Amino acid sequence: IVGGEEDDEEAIDELIASLPQRKGVVRPFQSLYQNFWCPTYLLPNVIGFQRHFQAKHKDILLVSQPKSGTTWLKALVFSVVNRSRFDIFSTPLLTSHPHHLVPFFEFQLYGSNPRPDLDGLAEPRLFSTHIPYASLAECAKQSDCRIIYICRNPLDTVVSSWHFYLEMARSQDQPEWSLEEQFETYCQGKTSFGPFWEHMVGYWKESLERPHKVLFLKYEDLKEDIVGQLKKVAGFVGLPFTEVEEEGGVIQQIAKMCSLKTLKDLEVNKSGELPAMIMKVEKRSYFRKGEVGDWVNHLTPSMVDRLSSIMKEKMSPFGLQF
Ligand code: A3P
Repeated sequence: IVGGEEDDEEAIDELIASLPQRKGVVRPFQSLYQNFWCPTYLLPNVIGFQRHFQAKHKDILLVSQPKSGTTWLKALVFSVVNRSRFDIFSTPLLTSHPHHLVPFFEFQLYGSNPRPDLDGLAEPRLFSTHIPYASLAECAKQSDCRIIYICRNPLDTVVSSWHFYLEMARSQDQPEWSLEEQFETYCQGKTSFGPFWEHMVGYWKESLERPHKVLFLKYEDLKEDIVGQLKKVAGFVGLPFTEVEEEGGVIQQIAKMCSLKTLKDLEVNKSGELPAMIMKVEKRSYFRKGEVGDWVNHLTPSMVDRLSSIMKEKMSPFGLQF
């Protein structure tokens, strides 16, 4: 890229102006950038990340689509990776929101500065993003850094995202919208970072081709067997639990510390907004019900049929099922 920061900014503005745009939910506009719907206000940050991020081999990237269990994954991986530094009584999770401990590239790190200084962060560095695989910074794909992806049954994700955006709209005095509208947007693949099927399939394929590089997790599996999944995560990041740890109940302690109930009841997660996020988001809105199958309480049979057939068409051929 030729030119200084100013030229850069101008060029980025021009690029953004040239992209197809649509009116999104809560966040006013989305742009179709590299085949995914990116909230327009995040685009400079996404581009900053793509251009300037320098991956280190030990880095761990936690990736998801919104409302797939990102917050939970952050708490879990943070605990696994830092278990020799902090025990359960001194864990920073007691005083910091998981999104604070594992920041997003696009919402936080590249939000105010296109070239944040990330060199001094403790290693292994933990980052997160909602950006699709194809649009990750090249060095994140090429280096040995590891990616842990979490996905969730779209039937539950669409319901969870509707609740989340509804709450956000209320707190920002924006007009509310119906589950039907959210559902329609979701099915059309126009929710943020979507289409959802491409996002999932992108990371899914990569996890099959390079299992040492991408670990593909499902929210539902974490709910069913947290101990087994935590062992998988620990092995994947090269820090397997020792026999002594297993016998001492370390895995169960981490699972309990990161449970919805524990995190939701912590003072730090109950009130206030996330300080480093660009948008105003209440900390507590990341913790709701945390159940598998809550969609039965919200979606009509025809909605279920429609979304199920999209999943069957777009994801089943790749062996990705819920
Ligand atoms: P529900 O809305 O279905 O309750 P994200 O973290 O990607 O924003 O996803 C939020 C969803 O994960 C919400 O789902 C939220 O309740 C759930 N969640 C948050 N923390 C969790 C935890 N510790 N255990 C299980 N689910 C959790």
